[in-house]
Amino acid sequence: MSDVLGTTGLILNEPLLWEKGKPGRRGFSLPVRDVEVSPLDESLTSPGPDFPDLSEVDVVRHYTRLSTWNFGVDTGTYPLGSCTMKYNPKINDKQAALPGFSGAHPLLPQKLSQGLLRLMFELQRMLAEITGMDAVSLQPSAGAQGELTGMLLICAYHKSRGRKPSKILVPDTAHGTNPASAALCGYRPIPVSSNDKGILSVESVAEAMDEDTAGIMITNPNTLGLFEENLKGIVDLVHAKGGVVYGDGANMNAVLGIMDVGCTGLDVLHLNLHKTFSTPHGGGGPGSGPVCVKKHLEPFLPVPRVLEEEGKYVFSSDFPQSVGKLHAFYGNVGIMIRAYSYIRTMGAVNLKKASQLAVLNANYVKERLKATYHLPYDRPCMHECVFTDKNQSSAKVMTSDIAKRLMDYGFHPPTIYFPLVVNGAIMIEPTETESKDDLDRLIDALQAIAEEANNNPDLLHQAPIKCKRRRLDEVTAARKPILAG
Ligand SMILES: Cc1ncc(COP(=O)(O)O)c(C=O)c1O
Repeated sequence: MSDVLGTTGLILNEPLLWEKGKPGRRGFSLPVRDVEVSPLDESLTSPGPDFPDLSEVDVVRHYTRLSTWNFGVDTGTYPLGSCTMKYNPKINDKQAALPGFSGAHPLLPQKLSQGLLRLMFELQRMLAEITGMDAVSLQPSAGAQGELTGMLLICAYHKSRGRKPSKILVPDTAHGTNPASAALCGYRPIPVSSNDKGILSVESVAEAMDEDTAGIMITNPNTLGLFEENLKGIVDLVHAKGGVVYGDGANMNAVLGIMDVGCTGLDVLHLNLHKTFSTPHGGGGPGSGPVCVKKHLEPFLPVPRVLEEEGKYVFSSDFPQSVGKLHAFYGNVGIMIRAYSYIRTMGAVNLKKASQLAVLNANYVKERLKATYHLPYDRPCMHECVFTDKNQSSAKVMTSDIAKRLMDYGFHPPTIYFPLVVNGAIMIEPTETESKDDLDRLIDALQAIAEEANNNPDLLHQAPIKCKRRRLDEVTAARKPILAG
Protein backbone atom coordinates (compact mmCIF):
# COMPACT_ATOMS: atom_id res chain seq x y z
CA MET A 1 0.00 0.00 0.00
CA SER A 2 1.43 3.40 -0.93
CA ASP A 3 1.40 6.49 1.29
CA VAL A 4 -1.94 7.63 -0.09
CA LEU A 5 -3.80 7.07 3.19
CA GLY A 6 -1.51 9.59 4.87
CA THR A 7 -3.09 12.54 3.03
CA THR A 8 -3.88 15.24 5.58
CA GLY A 9 -6.34 17.25 3.55
CA LEU A 10 -5.08 20.40 5.32
CA ILE A 11 -6.69 23.46 3.80
CA LEU A 12 -6.41 26.88 5.44
CA ASN A 13 -9.44 29.07 5.86
CA GLU A 14 -9.30 32.50 4.36
CA PRO A 15 -11.53 35.55 4.88
CA LEU A 16 -12.16 38.24 2.28
CA LEU A 17 -9.44 40.87 1.87
CA TRP A 18 -11.95 43.43 3.17
CA GLU A 19 -12.31 41.41 6.38
CA LYS A 20 -8.53 41.08 6.76
CA GLY A 21 -7.71 44.76 6.35
CA LYS A 22 -6.67 46.88 9.39
CA PRO A 23 -6.39 50.69 9.19
CA GLY A 24 -2.78 51.77 8.84
CA ARG A 25 -1.35 48.55 7.37
CA ARG A 26 0.85 49.12 4.35
CA GLY A 27 2.32 46.98 1.61
CA PHE A 28 5.00 49.56 0.77
CA SER A 29 7.26 52.12 2.45
CA LEU A 30 8.17 55.47 0.94
CA PRO A 31 11.47 57.25 1.61
CA VAL A 32 11.40 60.03 4.25
CA ARG A 33 9.98 63.20 2.75
CA ASP A 34 12.61 65.91 2.12
CA VAL A 35 10.27 68.63 0.80
CA GLU A 36 7.66 70.86 2.41
CA VAL A 37 4.12 69.48 2.73
CA SER A 38 1.82 71.04 0.18
CA PRO A 39 -1.82 70.01 0.93
CA LEU A 40 -4.05 69.19 -2.02
CA ASP A 41 -7.05 71.34 -2.75
CA GLU A 42 -9.79 69.25 -1.06
CA SER A 43 -12.45 70.50 -3.46
CA LEU A 44 -10.56 68.69 -6.24
CA THR A 45 -10.04 65.33 -4.46
CA SER A 46 -12.40 62.52 -3.51
CA PRO A 47 -12.02 59.98 -0.68
CA GLY A 48 -11.15 57.32 -3.27
CA PRO A 49 -12.35 53.72 -3.38
CA ASP A 50 -12.99 51.78 -0.18
CA PHE A 51 -9.92 49.54 -0.37
CA PRO A 52 -8.74 47.68 2.74
CA ASP A 53 -5.30 48.50 4.24
CA LEU A 54 -3.12 45.39 3.89
CA SER A 55 0.49 44.38 4.34
CA GLU A 56 2.45 42.54 1.64
CA VAL A 57 2.36 39.27 3.57
CA ASP A 58 -1.44 39.60 4.01
CA VAL A 59 -1.88 39.79 0.27
CA VAL A 60 0.64 37.06 -0.65
CA ARG A 61 -0.86 34.62 1.84
CA HIS A 62 -4.39 35.47 0.78
CA TYR A 63 -3.85 34.57 -2.85
CA THR A 64 -1.57 31.62 -2.10
CA ARG A 65 -4.21 30.12 0.21
CA LEU A 66 -6.96 30.67 -2.34
CA SER A 67 -4.83 28.89 -4.94
CA THR A 68 -4.74 25.79 -2.72
CA TRP A 69 -8.52 25.51 -2.81
CA ASN A 70 -8.35 24.57 -6.45
CA PHE A 71 -7.23 21.31 -8.00
CA GLY A 72 -5.59 21.20 -11.41
CA VAL A 73 -3.34 19.10 -13.58
CA ASP A 74 -0.36 20.73 -11.87
CA THR A 75 -1.65 19.55 -8.47
CA GLY A 76 -2.13 15.84 -9.05
CA THR A 77 -3.78 13.02 -10.94
CA TYR A 78 -6.94 14.21 -12.67
CA PRO A 79 -8.57 11.08 -14.14
CA LEU A 80 -11.61 12.84 -15.60
CA GLY A 81 -12.68 10.42 -18.33
CA SER A 82 -13.39 11.89 -21.77
CA CYS A 83 -11.65 15.17 -20.86
CA THR A 84 -7.99 14.08 -21.20
CA MET A 85 -6.73 16.18 -18.31
CA LYS A 86 -3.07 15.39 -18.89
CA TYR A 87 -0.11 17.37 -17.67
CA ASN A 88 1.24 19.55 -20.47
CA PRO A 89 4.85 20.69 -20.78
CA LYS A 90 5.21 24.33 -19.71
CA ILE A 91 7.40 25.07 -22.75
CA ASN A 92 4.22 25.17 -24.83
CA ASP A 93 2.67 27.87 -22.64
CA LYS A 94 5.93 29.81 -22.85
CA GLN A 95 5.87 29.76 -26.65
CA ALA A 96 2.30 31.06 -26.70
CA ALA A 97 3.35 33.88 -24.35
CA LEU A 98 6.21 35.09 -26.59
CA PRO A 99 5.56 38.83 -27.10
CA GLY A 100 5.43 38.50 -30.90
CA PHE A 101 2.54 36.04 -30.55
CA SER A 102 0.71 37.28 -27.47
CA GLY A 103 0.91 40.92 -28.60
CA ALA A 104 -0.22 40.29 -32.17
CA HIS A 105 -3.47 42.08 -32.93
CA PRO A 106 -5.91 40.24 -35.21
CA LEU A 107 -6.24 43.35 -37.35
CA LEU A 108 -2.49 43.51 -38.10
CA PRO A 109 -1.83 43.60 -41.84
CA GLN A 110 -0.97 40.17 -43.21
CA LYS A 111 2.55 41.25 -44.22
CA LEU A 112 3.27 41.99 -40.54
CA SER A 113 1.83 38.64 -39.35
CA GLN A 114 3.85 36.29 -41.54
CA GLY A 115 5.25 34.30 -38.59
CA LEU A 116 1.86 33.56 -37.10
CA LEU A 117 0.32 32.82 -40.49
CA ARG A 118 3.15 30.44 -41.27
CA LEU A 119 2.60 28.70 -37.92
CA MET A 120 -1.11 28.28 -38.70
CA PHE A 121 -0.38 27.04 -42.21
CA GLU A 122 2.17 24.51 -40.96
CA LEU A 123 -0.13 23.38 -38.15
CA GLN A 124 -2.84 22.69 -40.74
CA ARG A 125 -0.35 20.60 -42.70
CA MET A 126 0.81 18.70 -39.61
CA LEU A 127 -2.75 17.90 -38.55
CA ALA A 128 -3.53 16.73 -42.09
CA GLU A 129 -0.50 14.44 -41.96
CA ILE A 130 -1.35 13.10 -38.48
CA THR A 131 -4.93 12.29 -39.47
CA GLY A 132 -4.34 11.28 -43.09
CA MET A 133 -6.89 13.84 -44.28
CA ASP A 134 -6.47 16.34 -47.15
CA ALA A 135 -7.34 19.79 -45.77
CA VAL A 136 -7.85 21.45 -42.39
CA SER A 137 -9.61 24.48 -40.92
CA LEU A 138 -8.32 25.71 -37.57
CA GLN A 139 -11.25 28.05 -37.04
CA PRO A 140 -13.69 26.18 -34.72
CA SER A 141 -13.03 27.06 -31.09
CA ALA A 142 -14.19 23.84 -29.38
CA GLY A 143 -14.86 20.20 -30.13
CA ALA A 144 -18.59 20.84 -30.24
CA GLN A 145 -18.08 23.76 -32.63
CA GLY A 146 -15.94 21.48 -34.79
CA GLU A 147 -18.87 19.06 -34.85
CA LEU A 148 -21.24 21.83 -35.87
CA THR A 149 -18.79 22.87 -38.60
CA GLY A 150 -18.62 19.25 -39.80
CA MET A 151 -22.41 19.06 -39.92
CA LEU A 152 -22.55 22.32 -41.92
CA LEU A 153 -20.00 20.87 -44.36
CA ILE A 154 -22.04 17.69 -44.75
CA CYS A 155 -25.19 19.72 -45.29
CA ALA A 156 -23.47 21.92 -47.90
CA TYR A 157 -22.03 18.83 -49.63
CA HIS A 158 -25.45 17.16 -49.94
CA LYS A 159 -26.98 20.43 -51.12
CA SER A 160 -24.33 20.74 -53.84
CA ARG A 161 -25.51 17.34 -55.09
CA GLY A 162 -29.17 18.31 -55.01
CA ARG A 163 -29.94 16.31 -51.86
CA LYS A 164 -31.60 17.42 -48.63
CA PRO A 165 -31.61 14.48 -46.20
CA SER A 166 -33.21 15.17 -42.81
CA LYS A 167 -31.61 12.61 -40.46
CA ILE A 168 -28.21 11.58 -39.20
CA LEU A 169 -27.22 8.42 -37.30
CA VAL A 170 -25.62 8.86 -33.87
CA PRO A 171 -24.53 5.76 -31.93
CA ASP A 172 -25.40 5.52 -28.22
CA THR A 173 -21.66 5.50 -27.49
CA ALA A 174 -21.02 8.81 -29.27
CA HIS A 175 -20.07 11.86 -27.26
CA GLY A 176 -23.09 13.75 -25.91
CA THR A 177 -22.30 16.85 -27.94
CA ASN A 178 -22.74 14.91 -31.22
CA PRO A 179 -26.57 14.74 -31.32
CA ALA A 180 -26.76 18.34 -30.08
CA SER A 181 -24.48 19.59 -32.87
CA ALA A 182 -26.46 17.61 -35.46
CA ALA A 183 -29.74 19.03 -34.17
CA LEU A 184 -28.34 22.57 -34.21
CA CYS A 185 -27.66 22.07 -37.90
CA GLY A 186 -31.24 20.96 -38.50
CA TYR A 187 -30.65 17.19 -38.63
CA ARG A 188 -32.76 14.74 -36.63
CA PRO A 189 -30.32 12.51 -34.72
CA ILE A 190 -31.31 8.84 -34.94
CA PRO A 191 -29.80 6.73 -32.13
CA VAL A 192 -28.06 3.47 -33.06
CA SER A 193 -27.40 0.93 -30.28
CA SER A 194 -23.96 -0.51 -29.65
CA ASN A 195 -23.67 -4.29 -29.35
CA ASP A 196 -22.76 -6.48 -26.37
CA LYS A 197 -19.07 -5.74 -27.03
CA GLY A 198 -19.73 -2.01 -26.61
CA ILE A 199 -19.15 -1.19 -30.27
CA LEU A 200 -21.25 -0.65 -33.39
CA SER A 201 -22.14 -3.51 -35.69
CA VAL A 202 -22.51 -3.14 -39.45
CA GLU A 203 -25.95 -4.76 -39.16
CA SER A 204 -27.38 -2.18 -36.74
CA VAL A 205 -26.15 0.66 -38.97
CA ALA A 206 -27.57 -1.07 -42.04
CA GLU A 207 -30.98 -1.26 -40.35
CA ALA A 208 -31.05 2.48 -39.63
CA MET A 209 -29.40 3.83 -42.80
CA ASP A 210 -31.71 4.97 -45.59
CA GLU A 211 -31.81 7.51 -48.44
CA ASP A 212 -33.10 10.28 -46.13
CA THR A 213 -30.07 9.92 -43.87
CA ALA A 214 -27.17 12.34 -44.33
CA GLY A 215 -24.63 9.98 -42.79
CA ILE A 216 -23.30 8.92 -39.41
CA MET A 217 -21.30 10.54 -36.59
CA ILE A 218 -18.87 8.07 -35.06
CA THR A 219 -16.78 8.75 -31.98
CA ASN A 220 -13.68 6.55 -32.20
CA PRO A 221 -12.41 5.37 -29.77
CA ASN A 222 -15.94 5.63 -28.43
CA THR A 223 -17.04 6.95 -25.04
CA LEU A 224 -16.62 3.48 -23.52
CA GLY A 225 -12.93 3.79 -24.43
CA LEU A 226 -13.36 1.01 -27.02
CA PHE A 227 -12.11 0.94 -30.59
CA GLU A 228 -14.81 0.72 -33.26
CA GLU A 229 -13.55 -2.46 -34.89
CA ASN A 230 -16.23 -2.52 -37.59
CA LEU A 231 -15.45 0.98 -38.80
CA LYS A 232 -14.41 0.00 -42.33
CA GLY A 233 -17.58 -2.02 -42.96
CA ILE A 234 -19.76 0.80 -41.58
CA VAL A 235 -18.00 3.43 -43.70
CA ASP A 236 -18.46 1.35 -46.87
CA LEU A 237 -22.12 0.78 -46.10
CA VAL A 238 -22.89 4.45 -45.39
CA HIS A 239 -21.04 5.56 -48.53
CA ALA A 240 -22.91 3.01 -50.63
CA LYS A 241 -26.18 4.65 -49.53
CA GLY A 242 -24.95 8.16 -50.42
CA GLY A 243 -24.14 9.12 -46.83
CA VAL A 244 -21.13 10.92 -45.37
CA VAL A 245 -19.12 9.66 -42.38
CA TYR A 246 -18.26 12.11 -39.63
CA GLY A 247 -15.53 11.12 -37.19
CA ASP A 248 -15.40 12.61 -33.70
CA GLY A 249 -11.62 12.58 -33.28
CA ALA A 250 -11.54 14.22 -29.86
CA ASN A 251 -10.13 10.96 -28.48
CA MET A 252 -7.23 11.04 -30.93
CA ASN A 253 -4.75 10.84 -28.04
CA ALA A 254 -5.40 7.07 -28.09
CA VAL A 255 -4.38 6.52 -31.71
CA LEU A 256 -1.76 9.12 -32.74
CA GLY A 257 0.67 7.57 -35.21
CA ILE A 258 -1.27 4.30 -34.99
CA MET A 259 -4.46 4.92 -36.93
CA ASP A 260 -4.54 6.63 -40.33
CA VAL A 261 -8.05 8.07 -40.23
CA GLY A 262 -7.92 8.97 -43.91
CA CYS A 263 -7.39 5.30 -44.82
CA THR A 264 -10.55 4.23 -43.00
CA GLY A 265 -12.59 6.29 -45.47
CA LEU A 266 -13.91 8.91 -43.02
CA ASP A 267 -14.94 12.09 -44.83
CA VAL A 268 -14.65 14.63 -42.04
CA LEU A 269 -13.10 14.57 -38.58
CA HIS A 270 -12.67 17.08 -35.79
CA LEU A 271 -9.82 17.13 -33.29
CA ASN A 272 -9.72 18.67 -29.84
CA LEU A 273 -6.39 20.51 -29.69
CA HIS A 274 -7.27 21.29 -26.06
CA LYS A 275 -7.36 17.59 -25.16
CA THR A 276 -4.81 15.88 -27.36
CA PHE A 277 -2.32 18.61 -28.21
CA SER A 278 -1.32 20.34 -25.00
CA THR A 279 -3.99 22.62 -23.61
CA PRO A 280 -5.96 21.16 -20.68
CA HIS A 281 -9.66 20.71 -21.23
CA GLY A 282 -12.22 22.31 -18.98
CA GLY A 283 -12.84 25.42 -16.98
CA GLY A 284 -14.73 26.88 -19.90
CA GLY A 285 -11.47 28.30 -21.18
CA PRO A 286 -10.61 28.75 -24.83
CA GLY A 287 -10.36 25.63 -26.93
CA SER A 288 -9.71 24.68 -30.52
CA GLY A 289 -11.56 22.06 -32.55
CA PRO A 290 -9.96 21.95 -36.03
CA VAL A 291 -11.89 20.19 -38.76
CA CYS A 292 -10.03 17.89 -41.15
CA VAL A 293 -11.67 16.86 -44.43
CA LYS A 294 -11.16 14.77 -47.53
CA LYS A 295 -10.81 16.54 -50.89
CA HIS A 296 -14.51 16.41 -51.80
CA LEU A 297 -15.45 18.48 -48.72
CA GLU A 298 -12.60 20.99 -48.97
CA PRO A 299 -14.54 23.61 -51.04
CA PHE A 300 -17.01 24.01 -48.16
CA LEU A 301 -14.47 24.72 -45.37
CA PRO A 302 -14.94 27.95 -43.36
CA VAL A 303 -13.27 31.14 -44.55
CA PRO A 304 -10.88 32.84 -44.27
CA ARG A 305 -8.43 30.01 -44.98
CA VAL A 306 -4.69 30.31 -44.51
CA LEU A 307 -2.83 29.63 -47.75
CA GLU A 308 0.72 29.88 -49.05
CA GLU A 309 1.05 31.92 -52.24
CA GLU A 310 4.45 32.53 -53.84
CA GLY A 311 6.33 32.14 -50.57
CA LYS A 312 3.93 34.41 -48.63
CA TYR A 313 1.18 33.39 -46.22
CA VAL A 314 -2.24 34.92 -46.78
CA PHE A 315 -5.85 34.75 -45.60
CA SER A 316 -8.16 33.92 -48.47
CA SER A 317 -11.94 34.10 -48.55
CA ASP A 318 -12.16 33.28 -52.23
CA PHE A 319 -14.11 30.03 -51.78
CA PRO A 320 -17.64 30.58 -53.15
CA GLN A 321 -18.99 27.28 -51.76
CA SER A 322 -17.67 27.90 -48.22
CA VAL A 323 -20.07 27.57 -45.28
CA GLY A 324 -18.76 30.97 -44.14
CA LYS A 325 -17.24 32.13 -40.91
CA LEU A 326 -17.49 30.19 -37.65
CA HIS A 327 -15.52 32.39 -35.30
CA ALA A 328 -14.44 35.98 -34.84
CA PHE A 329 -11.19 36.46 -36.74
CA TYR A 330 -9.33 33.11 -37.10
CA GLY A 331 -10.04 30.93 -34.03
CA ASN A 332 -8.21 30.68 -30.70
CA VAL A 333 -4.66 31.24 -31.86
CA GLY A 334 -3.03 30.74 -28.43
CA ILE A 335 -4.23 27.14 -28.38
CA MET A 336 -2.88 26.62 -31.90
CA ILE A 337 0.56 27.87 -30.84
CA ARG A 338 0.61 25.41 -27.92
CA ALA A 339 -0.40 22.56 -30.25
CA TYR A 340 2.25 23.52 -32.80
CA SER A 341 4.90 23.64 -30.09
CA TYR A 342 3.71 20.29 -28.66
CA ILE A 343 3.81 18.53 -32.03
CA ARG A 344 7.23 19.99 -32.96
CA THR A 345 8.81 19.18 -29.58
CA MET A 346 7.36 15.66 -29.46
CA GLY A 347 8.00 14.61 -33.04
CA ALA A 348 6.31 11.67 -34.77
CA VAL A 349 7.97 8.98 -32.65
CA ASN A 350 6.96 10.51 -29.33
CA LEU A 351 3.42 11.35 -30.41
CA LYS A 352 2.95 7.67 -31.13
CA LYS A 353 4.57 6.78 -27.81
CA ALA A 354 2.20 9.16 -25.99
CA SER A 355 -0.77 7.28 -27.42
CA GLN A 356 0.77 3.93 -26.56
CA LEU A 357 1.30 5.09 -22.97
CA ALA A 358 -2.25 6.46 -22.73
CA VAL A 359 -3.58 3.04 -23.75
CA LEU A 360 -1.14 1.14 -21.53
CA ASN A 361 -2.04 3.26 -18.48
CA ALA A 362 -5.79 2.78 -18.98
CA ASN A 363 -5.39 -0.97 -19.38
CA TYR A 364 -3.19 -1.11 -16.26
CA VAL A 365 -5.85 0.66 -14.18
CA LYS A 366 -8.56 -1.55 -15.70
CA GLU A 367 -6.75 -4.80 -14.96
CA ARG A 368 -5.78 -3.83 -11.39
CA LEU A 369 -9.25 -2.61 -10.44
CA LYS A 370 -11.52 -5.09 -12.19
CA ALA A 371 -11.57 -7.48 -9.23
CA THR A 372 -12.83 -4.62 -7.05
CA TYR A 373 -15.13 -2.62 -9.30
CA HIS A 374 -17.57 -4.07 -11.80
CA LEU A 375 -16.23 -3.78 -15.34
CA PRO A 376 -19.17 -3.96 -17.78
CA TYR A 377 -17.01 -4.51 -20.88
CA ASP A 378 -14.15 -6.79 -19.90
CA ARG A 379 -11.94 -6.41 -22.96
CA PRO A 380 -8.86 -4.42 -23.94
CA CYS A 381 -9.62 -0.71 -23.82
CA MET A 382 -8.01 2.29 -25.44
CA HIS A 383 -7.23 5.44 -23.43
CA GLU A 384 -9.99 5.15 -20.81
CA CYS A 385 -11.93 2.49 -18.98
CA VAL A 386 -15.43 2.41 -17.53
CA PHE A 387 -16.41 0.73 -14.23
CA THR A 388 -19.69 0.82 -12.30
CA ASP A 389 -20.86 0.85 -8.66
CA LYS A 390 -22.59 -2.55 -9.00
CA ASN A 391 -20.27 -4.33 -6.52
CA GLN A 392 -20.78 -1.60 -3.93
CA SER A 393 -24.55 -1.22 -4.34
CA SER A 394 -25.42 -3.88 -1.72
CA ALA A 395 -23.80 -1.54 0.85
CA LYS A 396 -25.92 1.29 -0.60
CA VAL A 397 -22.79 3.04 -1.85
CA MET A 398 -23.20 4.75 -5.18
CA THR A 399 -20.90 6.04 -7.89
CA SER A 400 -21.22 9.62 -6.61
CA ASP A 401 -20.17 8.52 -3.06
CA ILE A 402 -17.06 6.84 -4.47
CA ALA A 403 -16.18 9.87 -6.59
CA LYS A 404 -16.62 12.29 -3.67
CA ARG A 405 -14.55 10.14 -1.33
CA LEU A 406 -11.70 10.14 -3.86
CA MET A 407 -11.28 13.86 -3.16
CA ASP A 408 -10.43 13.02 0.46
CA TYR A 409 -7.54 10.96 -0.89
CA GLY A 410 -6.22 13.89 -2.91
CA PHE A 411 -7.47 13.02 -6.40
CA HIS A 412 -9.83 14.76 -8.75
CA PRO A 413 -12.92 12.55 -9.19
CA PRO A 414 -13.32 10.61 -12.43
CA THR A 415 -16.17 11.33 -14.81
CA ILE A 416 -19.36 9.79 -13.41
CA TYR A 417 -22.72 8.70 -14.81
CA PHE A 418 -21.29 9.04 -18.34
CA PRO A 419 -21.44 7.37 -20.81
CA LEU A 420 -25.18 6.95 -20.44
CA VAL A 421 -25.13 3.40 -21.84
CA VAL A 422 -23.61 2.22 -18.54
CA ASN A 423 -25.58 2.48 -15.30
CA GLY A 424 -23.63 4.21 -12.55
CA ALA A 425 -20.59 4.68 -14.81
CA ILE A 426 -17.19 5.54 -13.30
CA MET A 427 -15.07 6.59 -16.25
CA ILE A 428 -11.33 6.78 -15.67
CA GLU A 429 -8.91 8.34 -18.13
CA PRO A 430 -5.47 8.22 -16.52
CA THR A 431 -3.72 9.83 -19.54
CA GLU A 432 -0.21 9.16 -20.76
CA THR A 433 1.49 11.61 -18.42
CA GLU A 434 0.82 9.73 -15.15
CA SER A 435 3.70 7.63 -13.83
CA LYS A 436 3.20 4.09 -12.54
CA ASP A 437 3.71 5.42 -8.99
CA ASP A 438 0.86 7.89 -9.40
CA LEU A 439 -1.38 5.27 -11.01
CA ASP A 440 -0.66 2.93 -8.08
CA ARG A 441 -1.63 5.67 -5.63
CA LEU A 442 -4.93 6.18 -7.48
CA ILE A 443 -5.59 2.42 -7.54
CA ASP A 444 -4.74 2.10 -3.82
CA ALA A 445 -7.17 4.91 -3.03
CA LEU A 446 -9.98 3.31 -5.05
CA GLN A 447 -9.33 -0.05 -3.39
CA ALA A 448 -9.34 1.57 0.06
CA ILE A 449 -12.66 3.24 -0.81
CA ALA A 450 -14.15 -0.12 -1.84
CA GLU A 451 -13.12 -1.52 1.57
CA GLU A 452 -14.71 1.47 3.29
CA ALA A 453 -17.87 0.79 1.30
CA ASN A 454 -18.05 -2.62 3.00
CA ASN A 455 -16.93 -1.60 6.49
CA ASN A 456 -18.07 1.98 6.93
CA PRO A 457 -20.52 2.98 4.19
CA ASP A 458 -21.70 6.01 6.19
CA LEU A 459 -18.28 7.58 5.79
CA LEU A 460 -18.75 7.46 2.05
CA HIS A 461 -22.24 8.91 2.29
CA GLN A 462 -20.74 11.95 4.05
CA ALA A 463 -17.72 12.36 1.78
CA PRO A 464 -15.89 14.53 1.10
CA ILE A 465 -14.88 15.25 4.68
CA LYS A 466 -11.42 16.76 4.15
CA CYS A 467 -12.25 19.23 1.42
CA LYS A 468 -12.75 22.94 1.76
CA ARG A 469 -16.46 22.43 1.12
CA ARG A 470 -18.24 19.40 2.54
CA ARG A 471 -20.91 17.54 0.61
CA LEU A 472 -23.34 19.97 -1.00
CA ASP A 473 -27.09 19.61 -0.99
CA GLU A 474 -27.20 19.07 -4.73
CA VAL A 475 -30.99 19.14 -5.02
CA THR A 476 -31.28 22.53 -3.29
CA ALA A 477 -28.26 23.81 -5.21
CA ALA A 478 -29.99 22.89 -8.48
CA ARG A 479 -33.49 24.04 -7.48
CA LYS A 480 -32.60 27.20 -5.53
CA PRO A 481 -29.18 28.29 -6.72
CA ILE A 482 -27.62 31.27 -4.94
CA LEU A 483 -25.63 32.84 -7.72
CA ALA A 484 -24.24 35.87 -5.91
CA GLY A 485 -22.86 36.87 -2.53
C1 LIG B 1 -15.23 12.52 -27.71
C2 LIG B 1 -15.56 13.96 -27.51
N1 LIG B 1 -16.21 14.64 -28.47
C3 LIG B 1 -16.51 15.94 -28.34
C4 LIG B 1 -16.17 16.64 -27.22
C5 LIG B 1 -16.59 18.08 -27.10
O1 LIG B 1 -15.49 18.94 -27.03
P1 LIG B 1 -15.64 20.40 -26.39
O2 LIG B 1 -15.84 20.20 -24.92
O3 LIG B 1 -14.37 21.08 -26.71
O4 LIG B 1 -16.81 21.05 -27.02
C6 LIG B 1 -15.47 15.99 -26.20
C7 LIG B 1 -15.11 16.68 -24.97
O5 LIG B 1 -14.48 16.16 -24.10
C8 LIG B 1 -15.17 14.61 -26.34
O6 LIG B 1 -14.52 13.93 -25.39
